[in-house]
Amino acid sequence: MTERVSARPWQAPVRELAARLRGAARVTVLTGAGVSAASGVPTFRGADGLWRQYRAEDLATTQAFARDPRLVWDWYAWRRETIASCRPNAAHEVLAAWTHRRPEWRVVTQNVDDLHQRAGTRALVRLHGSIWELSCWSRCATSPARWRDERVPLPDPLPRCPHCLGLARPAVVWFGEPLDPADVRQAGDRTVCDVFIAAGTSAVVYPAAGLLEAARARGAFTAEVNLEPTPASSGVDVAIHAPAEEVLAEIESML
Ligand code: OAD
Repeated sequence: MTERVSARPWQAPVRELAARLRGAARVTVLTGAGVSAASGVPTFRGADGLWRQYRAEDLATTQAFARDPRLVWDWYAWRRETIASCRPNAAHEVLAAWTHRRPEWRVVTQNVDDLHQRAGTRALVRLHGSIWELSCWSRCATSPARWRDERVPLPDPLPRCPHCLGLARPAVVWFGEPLDPADVRQAGDRTVCDVFIAAGTSAVVYPAAGLLEAARARGAFTAEVNLEPTPASSGVDVAIHAPAEEVLAEIESML
């Protein structure tokens, strides 16, 4: 007798997660760059991740911007151009549908690409800001905290604050910067849930990575959906190592 081996070994844990979701009132999904990978947005730490080609401290810190704003803007202009041609994939679509059907099912993202918003996700918390928003580098008194600018390419390679005409910067959170306290509070509130899923995140950047631990400590059933194991894998109730866009679509078909 031969044992029948499933072509998709992640089927059993997917079924287990789907069963948990069927009985869950409150669900929180924390997403990372891997959820946008199938849309063509480069990840940071995956196989072709950005931090394998570039040093974060040269491009994603206030020190880097102070030293060479043109270099940092060149990099963000390139990322904006890349993201502008990307469309939401099945992972974004499924998560958006959940937030419409079930208001207590929520998404918290580390992604700055806005693909969750473009898919129509309700009540999204964006922990790291948006690449489509700018803010005044010197935080002049008259400028709003941030403003929308979706132009690609940007007409001025070094965008200006419309109020003080000084330099503008991408309104994203750089390494070493604090997150918006309102976003942190909302994300923290969402760790009170029945099921917490971390999808497409390497789970190494805090405070986002701490949300999974907080949800577990508060009694949530926890799951990871990621192409490969992460530091979070050993602590979750279910670890599914497969593409998020396939897994979430499969779960949706089981709900
Ligand atoms: P990372 O690039 O660190 O991790 C993405 C994870 O997604 C990796 O573990 C990949 O294996 C996995 N992955 C790739 N494709 C996938 C797919 N189709 N399905 C499921 N998983 C897939 O991205 P984040 O965890 O989001 O912060 O990174 C967190 C933060 O670090 C980012 O927001 C950014 C970055 O530096 C700042 O810039 C402040």
